[in-house]
Amino acid sequence: MDYKIGVLPGDGIGPEIVEQAIKVLEAIGNKFGHRFEFTQGLVGAAAIDHAGNPFPDESLRLCMDSDAVLFGAIGDPRFDNDPRAKVRPEQGLLAMRKELGLYANIRPVTTFRSLIHQSPLRADLVEGTDFVVVRELTGGIYFGEPRGRSEDQQKAYDTSVYTREEIRRIARVGFEYAARRSKRLTVVDKANVLATSRLWRETVQEMEPDYPDITVEYMFVDNAAMQIIQWPKKFDVMVTENMFGDILSDEASVITGSLGLLPSASIGIHTSVFEPIHGSYPQAAGKDVANPLATVLSAAMLLDVSLNLTGEAMAVRDVVDRSMDEGIVTEDIAAGKAYRTSQVGEWLAANL
Ligand code: IPM
Ligand code: MG
Repeated sequence: MDYKIGVLPGDGIGPEIVEQAIKVLEAIGNKFGHRFEFTQGLVGAAAIDHAGNPFPDESLRLCMDSDAVLFGAIGDPRFDNDPRAKVRPEQGLLAMRKELGLYANIRPVTTFRSLIHQSPLRADLVEGTDFVVVRELTGGIYFGEPRGRSEDQQKAYDTSVYTREEIRRIARVGFEYAARRSKRLTVVDKANVLATSRLWRETVQEMEPDYPDITVEYMFVDNAAMQIIQWPKKFDVMVTENMFGDILSDEASVITGSLGLLPSASIGIHTSVFEPIHGSYPQAAGKDVANPLATVLSAAMLLDVSLNLTGEAMAVRDVVDRSMDEGIVTEDIAAGKAYRTSQVGEWLAANL
């Protein structure tokens, strides 16, 4: 089959890690007889520099016309330290999510045997951790109106908004993941304080009878933050609002000892987008040292979630496991000799 893949490398290490994922997809194409047509577009600081807009119309059109989108990273220190900047790279990512209707962000948190020793937690606590954060991605405080400053500039405000329908559609994703896994769903909220969280709880409670074989547990977000550290193995599928999911998924990623290894899928109304959960790591940009595996594993998610190529996705995951067992890894996880970003990509492609 032929597939159109939109490629948005973005900022920092984005271009070099995405390049490795493309090598791997091309090797998959050769091995399994598919043709992937890659078309690049601009997003983030790179797009601001070229087009004055962090998510130009051509990039939106490219996404809409693709079967799936592979995304690198976004963010640039030039903007981070300038709170007065009128356009910010992150607005490109948020616009992309909103315009493509990507309301569900799936972040699997798994451990890799060869990396357990890198976890800040004791090995016996993390070993075997395997859960999924289902993060709502187009609502809540990231998008709610009104937002901004008072005229006298002495006050700023953000608004968290959720409708019943927005909660229902993301909860459905959570229930469906739970149904395919251990049939346990943890709803993370702050219903003791926030009106939006109370609507989340009420809405999910109303849905429970539709999923009689799923056990639902409700947990306050502060408690969840604590339990992720104390007992990560207890979680299976966690569904939560945009901001809580942002924070908890970063927390969850470090306990595995492998921030550079965790992929994600954003799915919704239009084309799905696949990206590593880590950021743009500007200090390493262009140095050929960044770990490409989270992006390669995001390409694996692209294969099975968007293109239904399950065997192909498994082949990618297998070769990534082998590269780690054989120590063909970048400096962030290398015990002995470290390989370059491009060398890891070449090894993966050659060993497929
Ligand atoms: C993420 C990132 C983004 C977010 C930023 C870059 C806007 O942290 O994808 O988790 O907050 O959603
Ligand atoms: Mg984040």
